[in-house]
Amino acid sequence: MTLANRSLVTIDDFSYGEIEALFNLTDEMSGAMDEQYGLCHGKIMASLFFEPSTRTRLSFETAMHRLGGSVITAADVGATSLAKGESIADMARVVGSYVDMIVIRHPWEGAAKVVADYSGVPVINAGDGGHQHPTQTLCDLYTIKKEKKTLKGLKIGLWGDLKYGRTIHSLIFALAKFGANILFYPTPGLEVPEHVLEKLTMEYGGELEKYATPDTASKEKLFPLDAIYLTPSSPHQLAMMPDVNLQVELKTGIDALYVTRPQKERFSAAEKGEELREKYPVVDKKLLRGREFKKTLVMHPLPRVDELALELDTDPRSMYFKQAARGVPVRMSLIALLLGAKDAAIPQEAAPSIAYPVYRRDYGPRCPNQRCVSVQETEVKYLKPEYKIVNRNPLTLRCAYCEHGFEPEYVASSDWHEGKTATKKYHSASSHWADKIRPENLIVFRSNQDAETLGFKPSRYVKIRRRRKGTQK
Ligand code: NCD
Repeated sequence: MTLANRSLVTIDDFSYGEIEALFNLTDEMSGAMDEQYGLCHGKIMASLFFEPSTRTRLSFETAMHRLGGSVITAADVGATSLAKGESIADMARVVGSYVDMIVIRHPWEGAAKVVADYSGVPVINAGDGGHQHPTQTLCDLYTIKKEKKTLKGLKIGLWGDLKYGRTIHSLIFALAKFGANILFYPTPGLEVPEHVLEKLTMEYGGELEKYATPDTASKEKLFPLDAIYLTPSSPHQLAMMPDVNLQVELKTGIDALYVTRPQKERFSAAEKGEELREKYPVVDKKLLRGREFKKTLVMHPLPRVDELALELDTDPRSMYFKQAARGVPVRMSLIALLLGAKDAAIPQEAAPSIAYPVYRRDYGPRCPNQRCVSVQETEVKYLKPEYKIVNRNPLTLRCAYCEHGFEPEYVASSDWHEGKTATKKYHSASSHWADKIRPENLIVFRSNQDAETLGFKPSRYVKIRRRRKGTQK
């Protein structure tokens, strides 16, 4: 099977089998780095980095050079026509007409999807704001697999800024895909966003145990444990344990501790004010003296700031420089696969990913996430609202670009009765009437004002809702 012409925008774009096939090719390539030269001869990769980068950009470019291809680069948005107000879509179309593949890093969430939608060539997301960073995740997973042989049933701790860390968001889904259990140790105030947790449990099964009062037994060392994700493929050895049992279980060892730096550049003004960075405990030799860390891989996507002690650099448990070094062979195999220079032996797979109905209209509510590309690109007016309808009860839409979700207040059908204006009605999204609207006819509104501006009148199912909510007599 081939991965040629595919894009990697989120980690969900690749199945378990496809990632396994990529890792097999990575093994093959790492054992013979000098023999890969010429595989991508004549191919050109555009490397567009509109946010700071050292490892990701340079390892992508090294990978392409090692494959014998060429690279063109733009690493400063101010030096491109985006600074003149050009849309990302236009830039993508033009660059796509010059090259065979695009690697993009951009501060807006969902920007890589826009490039993939418009460029006509394979696109790799090298980080889109706080959304995802799937190739870092490939390096992380590959490292855990190499060191521990499997991911199934492992206990992986995620530590630090779990709110804005895009490497964390991609890694969460990948760990679930590979059957690992996840322990969440967020900096208080920087917990994993709700929409990520919702997608995790909805699409990967498993159980999420959140602690109303985070477990504080490890307070002096790590941030308090605030949630555990139990993979469905794991016997519930960690299952919903009272604190005492949980502590005993964790003493048997955490397989990897994935540390992240505070992503200050994405903090809100209030978060900056709280100086969350100051509260970061340092992962050092003293902390790792605990029995549970005896065989723990210490991981970090880098760059580190102060959260990892320098003394750990020579500790055999430290993996962060290995993770970075593996970026080259991992990205070489990814480039070779997407350019069709190599084929992948993909094992038979059980369940394909869920195909949700899509909500795509010329009008409709804007994504609630201000950092979403669909909100940021409003000036140029080409991005239409696009959502996956991930749940009918309660009706829940997930932005196709940044994956933030929301529950609209009101709905209507585009197929109103006999097309008469008098029957052009809107209803409460929680009324039974709303359930009857077919996905392809669904229109959603965030407020009744939005519905009425478009000429819809309230139906009696709006009134029922209002009465129930006590907003109208
Ligand atoms: C990460 C990133 O850019 O998201 N770095 C990387 O690509 N290795 C992590 C970070 O910046 O903290």
